[in-house]
Amino acid sequence: MEPLHQIHLEQHFQPASHWVITSNHGFISYAQEELRRSFGQLKSRMLVSGETALMELPADAHEVLRLLEEQPAIFIRHIQPVHAVVEESSMKADLPASAGLLVDKLFEQSEAAMENIHVAVHVRSSVSNAPEDKALRDALRAAAEAGGALSAVQNPAFIISLFIHEGMVYAGLVTPAQAGSDWPGGAIRFQREEGQVSRAKFKLLEAERTFGLEFSAYRNALDVGAAPGGWTSLLLERGVHVTAVDPAKMHPSLMNHPRLSYFGKNAGEVAFEPYEFDLLVCDMSWSPKVTAKLVIQLLDSVISGGTVIVTVKLMHKKPLQTIRDVTEMFSEHMQILRAKQLFHNRDEITLYMLKY
Ligand SMILES: C[S@@+](CC[C@H](N)C(=O)[O-])C[C@H]1O[C@@H](n2cnc3c(N)ncnc32)[C@H](O)[C@@H]1O
Repeated sequence: MEPLHQIHLEQHFQPASHWVITSNHGFISYAQEELRRSFGQLKSRMLVSGETALMELPADAHEVLRLLEEQPAIFIRHIQPVHAVVEESSMKADLPASAGLLVDKLFEQSEAAMENIHVAVHVRSSVSNAPEDKALRDALRAAAEAGGALSAVQNPAFIISLFIHEGMVYAGLVTPAQAGSDWPGGAIRFQREEGQVSRAKFKLLEAERTFGLEFSAYRNALDVGAAPGGWTSLLLERGVHVTAVDPAKMHPSLMNHPRLSYFGKNAGEVAFEPYEFDLLVCDMSWSPKVTAKLVIQLLDSVISGGTVIVTVKLMHKKPLQTIRDVTEMFSEHMQILRAKQLFHNRDEITLYMLKY
């Protein structure tokens, strides 16, 4: 194996750090644009068209992570620092030894201790499901265990994160919070349940996890644009009373639920008592500005400090402008805690807000 310090990346900025950055398919240019706005300039090489890029940023790794924590990006689904770059073929020539060297190098560079620390290993590659990935993963896991770490799939303290592209292995050590996810590439998967009302349920499940929400702590929710009822069904499962509004029909399996009230109407035609709800969710898939207006009209029925989750459809070609316009409308009424494109969002993002 060639020495790990031999980084196969040309460095242009001083200081500089390198990253493998992943977004939802088709949105990497917006992730780049967000980074450009934070860092002024960057260099970028596409690893997977439209979704994964190798980037050089003009700041050291600590500074990049600090800035991203302060101002989380909307379109970065996953970020992995590149602490070492190795040729795949030289690693494979003696996998156990080179995995050991690589793991030591990553921990040394990150100034992190390995002893009794829960560590997960993620190996991704620009060729999906490459068969060699498993051998590499196993070797890295064994090397981390030999160094005193404990293998973990869930809730690791650190992730040894690798991206393989055209025979090169880009490796880094990262915490799940820094990476933005404890799933490889941020591609969080939920088990499809029997009788699940809609795939849209995954969006709210992911929002619950990503934003650290506990829906079981809420009492009364308003679900606007609720049909066929995936989001409603999740809130009912969490023990919440749900008022669902949608001119379209809810799934028959929900209709007799004792904690569900259903209004088969347009959101503009309903009104509720002041402060009736402590949670408002809206997944209308409609024009962002019209959606924002309808949600704002209904805000009197939400308590001060109540939580509001809204998906914003990104129309046409100017997502950043759309997001700016809509957040400006909402920000008069609510504190915007996060704006994020979740893995289960398609051409949309999710806003997490608190009513003033
Ligand atoms: C993406 S679906 C919602 C899926 C739902 N969250 C689920 O989990 O099953 C969008 C829904 O918004 C509804 N919708 C669109 N415009 C609306 C409006 N002005 N008022 C109420 N509902 C609306 C549509 O009828 C449609 O059922």
